[in-house]
Amino acid sequence: MKYTFPENFWWGSAASGPQTEGTYEGDQKGANIWDHWYAEQPEAFFDQVGPNRTSAFYKNYKADIQLMKQTGHNSFRTSIQWSRLIPNGTGEVNQKAVDFYNSVIDELIANDVEPFMNLYHFDMPMKMQEKGGWENRETVEAYVHFAKTCFELFGDRVKKWFTHNEPIVPVEGGYLYQFHYPAIVDMKKAAQVGYHEALASAKAIKVYHELNQGGEIGIILNLTPSYPRDENNPEDVKAARIADAIFNRSFLEPAVKGVFPTDLVDLLKEIDYLPVIEEGDLDIIKENTVDLLGVNYYQPRRIKAKESAEKLSDGPMPDDYFDNYEMPGRKMNPYRGWEIYEKGIYDILTNLRENYGNIRCFISENGMGVEGEERYINEDGRIDDDYRIEFVKDHLKYVHQAIQEGSNVQGYHMWTCMDNWSWLNAYKNRYGFIAVDLDNDCKRTIKKSGQWFKQMTDNNGFDD
Ligand code: NOJ
Repeated sequence: MKYTFPENFWWGSAASGPQTEGTYEGDQKGANIWDHWYAEQPEAFFDQVGPNRTSAFYKNYKADIQLMKQTGHNSFRTSIQWSRLIPNGTGEVNQKAVDFYNSVIDELIANDVEPFMNLYHFDMPMKMQEKGGWENRETVEAYVHFAKTCFELFGDRVKKWFTHNEPIVPVEGGYLYQFHYPAIVDMKKAAQVGYHEALASAKAIKVYHELNQGGEIGIILNLTPSYPRDENNPEDVKAARIADAIFNRSFLEPAVKGVFPTDLVDLLKEIDYLPVIEEGDLDIIKENTVDLLGVNYYQPRRIKAKESAEKLSDGPMPDDYFDNYEMPGRKMNPYRGWEIYEKGIYDILTNLRENYGNIRCFISENGMGVEGEERYINEDGRIDDDYRIEFVKDHLKYVHQAIQEGSNVQGYHMWTCMDNWSWLNAYKNRYGFIAVDLDNDCKRTIKKSGQWFKQMTDNNGFDD
């Protein structure tokens, strides 16, 4: 069968500033939470590789953009590092950062690759974190100022902006499950952090619309469809619904509908963990919803009613309301312990069509992490990652089906172009369709999937 996508479909990949640029302190970047955490505790990072050893996009971006062309990109998303542009989080703007991002944007446009710019990708400036980061209301204002600075500096050329990437992740990682700084367990703070991120997003959207730059602004959410173990068991269904409220609808509803999910609000009320909300905030959230939505999809969440009495913390935790469940027979990525469930992408798109006004969206991340990928290098030095080609095809088929049924999907971005640094996992799981050899001056080699992607995008689809 032939899978052809709509005209002008956005094909490309996504990355982020902190995962690709490298720190280059000589260029006056301020420290963010990752730089700080690594300096304090390098052993927390896989192979002790920190954010200073990323794929050096800062130096190599011109050649990298040529590689993007060779792998079929018409668009590329990255992020502006807050602590590079405004090293202390507030105050002086770093001219070297302005020059760098200007040059990246110009180079992309000159090569017919449309820049999509995200503003926050887990990279809180350390100076702001010292005052509580997203826990502190001051950070909301500082972020909005940062966002406005970006729009004013780059908005004449960048026409697609995103306020956050996966805003639930700093909540989960930083305040529940300890894989982001400050790595504490405190659901009350988690609620406040999430609320401030949602408010900051609405405020940045307001500023962007007021500037009237003729572009659009959205948010990028990692949506993890929450499937109950047994659809006929009301307790399982209820548990899955709570997980959905906490991990998906917490940001999806304010972003698209301008309100918080009532079941989440009720849950927080019950445990007396409602965040501090100032007068007028809810109107701002109500009135400033997104123009478009980025959907990151990797794996679903399998949920069953709470069975174990085990407590992860003394205080309340999301896990008090459900248990995760390993569905027997589920398909796993053999190279990383994540489930592969292609239909999940279709279920998300259908849900957006049916329950969220068919909001204009695109797949802003989808991809396959592989540990030990070197073992697939062939005699010509290329990685033959057929599994990744299968993975992308299988997901694209479902995207195609959703579009046939009326979903408003405008593009598909892979995570990611070049293998990059992935937080505590550093380079453990490789996601790129271009390999990066860290021991050989970050030499880049296009994988088989990169060659396939070029061919596929040239044809605006594929046969299978
Ligand atoms: C989603 C995040 O946006 C990105 O930062 C991360 O590296 C990938 N998932 C892979 O885990």
